Amino acid sequence: MADARPFHWEYQEPPVQREAFRVEGGRPLRGDVPISGSKNASLKLLAAAVLTGERCRFTNVPEIADVRVMVETLRDLGVVVDHPGPNTYEVAAGDVDWLFVPLEAAAKMRASFILLGPLLARFGRVIISNPGGDRIGRRPVNLHVEAMERLGAEIAYRNGYYFASAPGRLRAGDVTFPTVTVMGTENALLAATLADGHTRIHPAAQEPEVDDLISFLRKMGAEIVRTSPDTIEVEGRRRLRGADHRVIADRIEAGTFIVAAAVTGGEVTLREAPCTHLDAFLEVMDRVGVPVHRDGDDICVRGVPGGGEYRATDITTAPYPGLATDLQPPTAVLLGRAVGTSRIHETIFEDRLEWLEELARMGAQVDILDDHNATITGPRPLRGSEVEMSDLRAGASLIVAALAAEGRSVIHGAHHVRRGYENIERKFLDLDARIEHVSEG
Ligand code: UD1
Repeated sequence: MADARPFHWEYQEPPVQREAFRVEGGRPLRGDVPISGSKNASLKLLAAAVLTGERCRFTNVPEIADVRVMVETLRDLGVVVDHPGPNTYEVAAGDVDWLFVPLEAAAKMRASFILLGPLLARFGRVIISNPGGDRIGRRPVNLHVEAMERLGAEIAYRNGYYFASAPGRLRAGDVTFPTVTVMGTENALLAATLADGHTRIHPAAQEPEVDDLISFLRKMGAEIVRTSPDTIEVEGRRRLRGADHRVIADRIEAGTFIVAAAVTGGEVTLREAPCTHLDAFLEVMDRVGVPVHRDGDDICVRGVPGGGEYRATDITTAPYPGLATDLQPPTAVLLGRAVGTSRIHETIFEDRLEWLEELARMGAQVDILDDHNATITGPRPLRGSEVEMSDLRAGASLIVAALAAEGRSVIHGAHHVRRGYENIERKFLDLDARIEHVSEG
């Protein structure tokens, strides 16, 4: 790989539709909430459909901005994507001849980079923009690029674009990552399904969304085995076929609603929630003293009014099966309601603790020690405030904090939360919350 310059120079981000949420807090949430399909699984499944020219059908896809970006990106490539009804998408990548993923897609959504592996594997070349995406840490893609090179691709970097080619066919090989990477694993996996020979990916991410992708790829005819929890082996095939798939539930959305019920002292039942994928998070709920019980596919949460009985605890984010970094922000809101000092150790991304400054503006007692460590001391009452979302997960957590706070909050930057939560204000309204979105011109 040549010339890995940081991007980007002349590109101007298109203006976003400014939107805010207005929340009247201090009301316990009550009722049932359906948990949507997983964002992180859906994006990779839609990308996987380009591995075949046959039609693939996905149900339980969340209606969120990131899915729309992926669908538009696929359509721009010439892929036919139908949307026959809510949460259902059909993808047919028959004649794709425009193998270019532009900066416009990459700047909107880092996950557009997941198209590198499947396009390269099926068509032998692609030009793809270096992604921007969330403003959390540096978020490099070097490991994806190195994995493709390990599978025989030639990749050059010029002016913010990776020019990747694999004349003939990708060649299988050993892909060894220096650190666990979710999308890196998925890109290598997608590429390996059509590569010539036997690929071994290690350490492979163990996230349930990776396993959902594996189960879809198997339906397509791919030969994939997890030979140990962190090793995936793939026997490349010449062709894959179309398949149907129902996306797994979104464990991050589920965790967000569990905390919302806990911090408002409400009683909420999460319908079709992914209990089995939330072990590390539910263990934290247990330590804090949030009454949660599983009832078949549902999760019932009975929050403690006022929250004064919750106990402080230390948390450390880690790759699955550890506590998801995406659940660190909502968990932090809860820890602010607990008695005592909790330490938050964020191991995955630097800059993912910065949002705690906004939580502090709402009254939480936060001490950010460095890029990876913070403490939060409670219980401190939250007060309605005007705050700004900086990314998706922190944004949803500020809404949760506002629901628990006394008085009115205005949370700017609502577009961040639209990226990953389907109809979030409708779901909270149905739980008796007072929330509305307001356009800011
Ligand atoms: C995915 C999820 C994101 C989640 C994250 C960690 C999607 C669309 N996003 O992101 O919601 O927060 O997993 O669970 O599925 N790294 C490199 N070089 C690379 C790739 C990653 O240094 O080429 C580093 C990252 O900076 C980070 C770590 O590896 O420190 C793990 O990141 P990774 O697992 O790759 O996150 P994503 O797959 O991008």
